[in-house]
Amino acid sequence: MDDRLHKTYFPDDNIKNESHVRSMEQYKEMYERSISDPEGFWKDIAQQFYFKSQPQGKFLDFNFDVNNGPIYIKWMQGAVTNICFNSLDRHVQQGNGEKVAFYWEGNYPGDAGQISYAELLRKVCKFANVLKANGVKKGDRVAIYMPMIVELSVALLACARIGAMHSIVFAGFSAESLAERMQDGEVSILVTADGSWRGTKLVNLKEISDKAMEICAGKGQQITTCLVAKHLSATEETPVRNGTVVNDGGDCIDEATSEPGVRPCQHLKVNWTEGRDIWWHTAMASASEDCECEWMDVEDPLFMLYTSGSTGKPKGVLHTTGGYMLYAATTFKYVFDYQQHDIYWCTADVGWITGHTYVCYGPLLNGSTSVIFEGTPFYPDAGRLWQVVEKYKVSKFYTAPTAIRSLMKYGDSYVTKYDRSSLKVLGTVGEPINPEAWVWYHDVIGEGRCSIVDTFWQTETGGHTVTSLPGCTPMKPGSASFPFFGIKPTILDENCKPVEVGQEGYLVFSQPWPGIMRTVYGDHQRYETTYFKKFPGYYCTGDGAKLDEDGYIWVTGRIDDMVNVSGHLLSTAEIESALIEHQSVAEAAVVSHPHEIKGECTYCFITLCEGLEFTDALVSELKAAVRSKIGPFAQPDVMQNAPGLPKTRSGKIMRRVLRKIARGDKDVGDISTMADESVVELLFSLRPDC
Ligand code: PRX
Repeated sequence: MDDRLHKTYFPDDNIKNESHVRSMEQYKEMYERSISDPEGFWKDIAQQFYFKSQPQGKFLDFNFDVNNGPIYIKWMQGAVTNICFNSLDRHVQQGNGEKVAFYWEGNYPGDAGQISYAELLRKVCKFANVLKANGVKKGDRVAIYMPMIVELSVALLACARIGAMHSIVFAGFSAESLAERMQDGEVSILVTADGSWRGTKLVNLKEISDKAMEICAGKGQQITTCLVAKHLSATEETPVRNGTVVNDGGDCIDEATSEPGVRPCQHLKVNWTEGRDIWWHTAMASASEDCECEWMDVEDPLFMLYTSGSTGKPKGVLHTTGGYMLYAATTFKYVFDYQQHDIYWCTADVGWITGHTYVCYGPLLNGSTSVIFEGTPFYPDAGRLWQVVEKYKVSKFYTAPTAIRSLMKYGDSYVTKYDRSSLKVLGTVGEPINPEAWVWYHDVIGEGRCSIVDTFWQTETGGHTVTSLPGCTPMKPGSASFPFFGIKPTILDENCKPVEVGQEGYLVFSQPWPGIMRTVYGDHQRYETTYFKKFPGYYCTGDGAKLDEDGYIWVTGRIDDMVNVSGHLLSTAEIESALIEHQSVAEAAVVSHPHEIKGECTYCFITLCEGLEFTDALVSELKAAVRSKIGPFAQPDVMQNAPGLPKTRSGKIMRRVLRKIARGDKDVGDISTMADESVVELLFSLRPDC
């Protein structure tokens, strides 16, 4: 057994000494106050922000219990503010206008730019005026479907400035998904771009947008305005594309003819609907730079963001202005131990909640300098992330376990050839991280000197809820560790009773925190049913977790990814972790599978490290590894060779597709969000007889 996977790691003195929270005693003291006196705790934090008028009456008012009437949560009632003002104007007024807000790094090395707080504010004001000129008012919804470019942040902040709700749809979603979200959100304006390169793949965003708008029209919904940022070529408004251009003009040349690292084309021909479509740069050219903020009640909606629901229909998670602002800013400050001189980089796309809170709002509210990255970790090669870390001297870095695991496969040399001495804090988010990936992140990427923050949270929570803090938490690989300020976790069994140490149960929170979602757009009942009905008095995360004897929380994955084998509740994530510990395994995904005798059994898809063969001997070894790690009852029943796994473009494994493959059911459902659909056929062809 590899001891490194199971030991406890302590923060390095260099990190501890500059940290906001330097000891567990200090953490506990602050935490206790946040739970026993949430009003006082958050009132103090609110002092750092600008409010046009201060809270009056109850600072916190809520009902968390479905049996006591409708669920509601209100923080700082009566206060009036604007999150865009707090993210930009405040810093400019304090004399920090020249500080870099974002370094933009394009898909192609060499495509780069930067924007200061003052310049960002100027662009946001102009774009806010463009939106207003196109009829957008407070309370309207604006759909945004854009690549990772500065204009995406400009669009988001401009909405916030004028009190319109942004509904950002990840630019990897299909036309149908975009249309479904635009319909549900009742939007009439869409902001997009001509297109974007991701690695060697061209994403024709305008074409997809056109299709989505057509679908909406077919259902009687008119998108009256489509603003289009011209990203694939330089304009007056987008002068920062400095990359090598081999084909200046005309349509895009075939991606296959492009050399790695060289941008293949500059122009993308787009279809144009006069009267609806407007170029971003044309509209911006005549827009005024003055735009007074719309002063918002703190409980006015800020944005909605769709997340998948168990019924298949995505839910429009709605966050409001004031509470989200406090929570985004505070989690960013403490969890990344933000310092003025930091260069921070979160690799998430702004189309996901991680990008909303930790690419845009959290960093900007703290006045930080961050990197926005358009590309992928594998282009031009598997060293790209570390090349960017070296280039900007990134000190705080935040990514997903899936990226770490994928990069591990390529070996250490892609990492070690770049200077990573600037790194201090390394974060992970999105899924449980297996200890092996954690240790590689810690030992190889962080050279053993960085703190790792494993941050558990959700679209619904607005910000981190269970996480280590860099300067004080002793780290156990694979555990998100302790609750953030204001979060009161409990782990319950089916009967709403707290489970014993070591037992798995439902992770729930029994107190509201400022960043919690307030409703599902247009469907408050669904909000109550999904999150509050199962355990009255608690917010139910839908995730499984257990506590260890030191009080650490180990999130084991979605409860719906649980398997009940012969009456034993098993976490697929836990089995995966055991499999991944085997040196031959690069990645593993485990799903539940019907079993005549046991009820359910586990079916494991195994991706081996490059060059290895999937043999019977190896299968026996893997089964033995799970047996010895978890227990004989957990021994997997089926092992399948999986040279690839079906993943969304953001890297999440699509387990529902795996369940179908395991069952030999060719009706795999909607796979439009899958990064590489060919993997499905491959996996069907490799199914073992079972
Ligand atoms: O299952 C948990 C997992 O991701 C889910 C939330 O997904 P989403 O709303 O898309 O937001 C992702 C980014 C916050 C959770 O219910 N999850 C997220 N972070 C972790 C995690 N599981 C284990 N450990 C984490 N650190």
